Amino acid sequence: MTPSSPLPPPRQPGAYAVALVCLGNICRSPMAHVVLESRLAKAGLDDRVSVASSGTGDWHVGEPMDRRAAATLREHGYDPERHRARQYDASWLDVHDLVLVMDESNLTDVRALVPAGGEGHRVHLFRDFDPAGPGDVPDPYYGGPDGFDRVLAMVERTVDALVEQLAEVVR
Ligand code: 4NP
Repeated sequence: MTPSSPLPPPRQPGAYAVALVCLGNICRSPMAHVVLESRLAKAGLDDRVSVASSGTGDWHVGEPMDRRAAATLREHGYDPERHRARQYDASWLDVHDLVLVMDESNLTDVRALVPAGGEGHRVHLFRDFDPAGPGDVPDPYYGGPDGFDRVLAMVERTVDALVEQLAEVVR
């Protein structure tokens, strides 16, 4: 998918459902979740697009966001408090219109859960929407604090482009 190609169509009436997926659901996808919800609210689209996030791993289920991810969000005016980590499973693709994963490894893991003849066309790399070009959102978990700033910058510009496309599909 390129930024100019259409999003998968909604599969049922009601809000268009977007899922954001990484490995632990405590750093990258929660940051993208908070930023996307914030931008949707600013665009007046928060009642027409729903957002959820999860990780392919189960290590952090029920935990709040990584404190470095939360601090980076707070520094930029976002509220990280409501997040609790969840785990991705095959049922997520039954109830979401678009599943956006943070890196190629997540893509492999999520695609492995798509049944034959399933809705795999709804699964894409998050940065396929990045106007600066596609790629992974690098995992900041084992690095320093600047990794979280880099993730936020990628997330913000990608979310801005994504919201423009979501506006088209829900209007
Ligand atoms: P995330 O980062 O996938 O961006 O949430 C990670 C968080 C935790 C772990 C790995 C990556 N972990 O191995 O616990």
